[in-house]
Amino acid sequence: MNRGELLVAADPRALAQTAATMFVSFLHEAIAERGVARVALSGGSTPTAMFAVLSTMVAPWAETEVYWVDDRAVPPESPRSNFGAATAALFSKLPASPRVLAPMPATASPLTDGAAAYARELAARFGIDPAGAPPRFDVVWLGIGDDGHTASLFPGDAAVDDASRWVLDVPAAEGREARLSFSRATIAAARRIVVLAQGASKRGPIARARAEGDPHETPARLIGACEGSVIWLVDEAARPEA
Ligand code: 6PG
Repeated sequence: MNRGELLVAADPRALAQTAATMFVSFLHEAIAERGVARVALSGGSTPTAMFAVLSTMVAPWAETEVYWVDDRAVPPESPRSNFGAATAALFSKLPASPRVLAPMPATASPLTDGAAAYARELAARFGIDPAGAPPRFDVVWLGIGDDGHTASLFPGDAAVDDASRWVLDVPAAEGREARLSFSRATIAAARRIVVLAQGASKRGPIARARAEGDPHETPARLIGACEGSVIWLVDEAARPEA
């Protein structure tokens, strides 16, 4: 199990600064190696502060392709849309858009068709066989929920086990809309994973995610299957015990 590296920032402000600097650094690293940087973003509240700092920085967006790890089955203008939130906090403030800004077709009906369409788009953009191994993103930015979910892979959901597809349609559940999400296979294929988390409520889930155990209980344990670099980038409040 890849427990990754734990990096701790003093507070949320320092976390956002560190994350944004890391984000740009990894773009340059990927572009230097392959001429393009392909990153996938998660939603939730934590990335917002990083996006705000990124909006003030110079970054190689012309050589960067931006995709989404997951999104809710809502229109992009919905406050629940991960694409909408990232656009409001970052992409709408840039002087020019990234080379590719590929929202998930989250309002497709049936949602299964949206999952298949996004997988086809990834295969086309990466120039790989849609029936083959998943795309290898340069960086997959993840969060972790208080319940130990990551992406839209939630405890007890069948989606946690589904490695048959690159992108999954995740049915609605109690208090949660339907979503599209990278599968465990696509997450594990990443060259780099950065898990961005802040606040005391993440302390326990992070500790569980970095320990051996059942991914059905704590789906963020799936991050440990990544053979690439894994960084847990947290603030002091979220620092797990030991
Ligand atoms: C989503 C996210 C999700 C998120 C965690 C953490 O669409 O909800 O992709 O996996 O990363 O829920 O969210 P917070 O940053 O709000 O704690």
